[in-house]
Amino acid sequence: MELVKRPDNMERITTKALADKFIDEQVAAVRAQVGDKQVLLALSGGVDSSVVAALLIKAIGKQLVCVHVNHGLMRKGESEQVIEVFGKQLDANLIYIDATDRFLDKLADVSEPEKKRKIIGAEFIEVFNEEAKKLQGISFLAQGTIYPDILESDGVKAHHNVGGLPEDMAMELVEPVALLYKDEVRVVGSALGLPDDMVYRQPFPGPGLGVRCLGAITRDRLEALREADAILREEFDKNGLAGKVWQYFIAVPDVKSVGVRDSKRYEGWPAIIRAVNTTDAMSATIEEIPYALLHHITDRITHEVEGINRVLYDLTPKPIGTIEWE
Ligand code: XMP
Repeated sequence: MELVKRPDNMERITTKALADKFIDEQVAAVRAQVGDKQVLLALSGGVDSSVVAALLIKAIGKQLVCVHVNHGLMRKGESEQVIEVFGKQLDANLIYIDATDRFLDKLADVSEPEKKRKIIGAEFIEVFNEEAKKLQGISFLAQGTIYPDILESDGVKAHHNVGGLPEDMAMELVEPVALLYKDEVRVVGSALGLPDDMVYRQPFPGPGLGVRCLGAITRDRLEALREADAILREEFDKNGLAGKVWQYFIAVPDVKSVGVRDSKRYEGWPAIIRAVNTTDAMSATIEEIPYALLHHITDRITHEVEGINRVLYDLTPKPIGTIEWE
């Protein structure tokens, strides 16, 4: 990430017209910067890297090589959407790597949260690096750095960014949205034609479901978490909460309790709902979800998800609880 400063007089991009103007300027700037060379991008499917990908596809088409590493800790349907939108609709030069087994094997029996994060971060770099080495003659590396990343790079959330690349990858950076705030990146993404559920998606930590499948990750509990999380998202969408609640997800601890299903003893994990509002993620309040909806979500999760036999609602604001459990 390059440390650049946003000019004081730079207009906030709030409309399609302003976004189109920004896109035209950046398309010209990127073409001037990279000429006929190739550019590599780690495309996670998050808002920032997706917008950079769409912008660069517009500017340089197949000179952009997108690498999507599926670490097996994605939410339900996310890798599929990357393939659909970028591989098919935008006809990008997309390399898809399913590294699920590599990540989950490395994470087996590791229960300490910081260790898990380090393993996921290091493995990501390793996989990406291996791919980069296979490609010949790439001179540029595109990154979805946005302005808050620059402002926070020496602050509290520095540990959050998983994607750092090794020093020996001598590539010049291409960071077309580095001066934009998140809301502007979203306006630009919409103007580029990306689907709303990609552009307005809630934040998702780099280590993904890895920090929500608490303790040592197992495949069955991870799968239960992914399914329960998909139900929560579907119900929030349907009931108009998706745009109202800043971040919402399920965490599944490594604890079983006794329950009863089909008149038989049924031991399972609890699914913990977290739904918070915040402006900057430094502090957060708890959203008041209507009880009827909580009952409905509980009913669906306990009936539809194998391995879950209770649903809990986390009422803890930040501080004292962080937003994520790990
Ligand atoms: P916490 O748990 O620290 O989370 O209250 C604050 C916000 O940061 C997100 N988060 C991450 N984002 N990489 C990211 O890009 C990470 O490793 C990471 N860990 C937490 C979290 O989802 C919340 O929005």
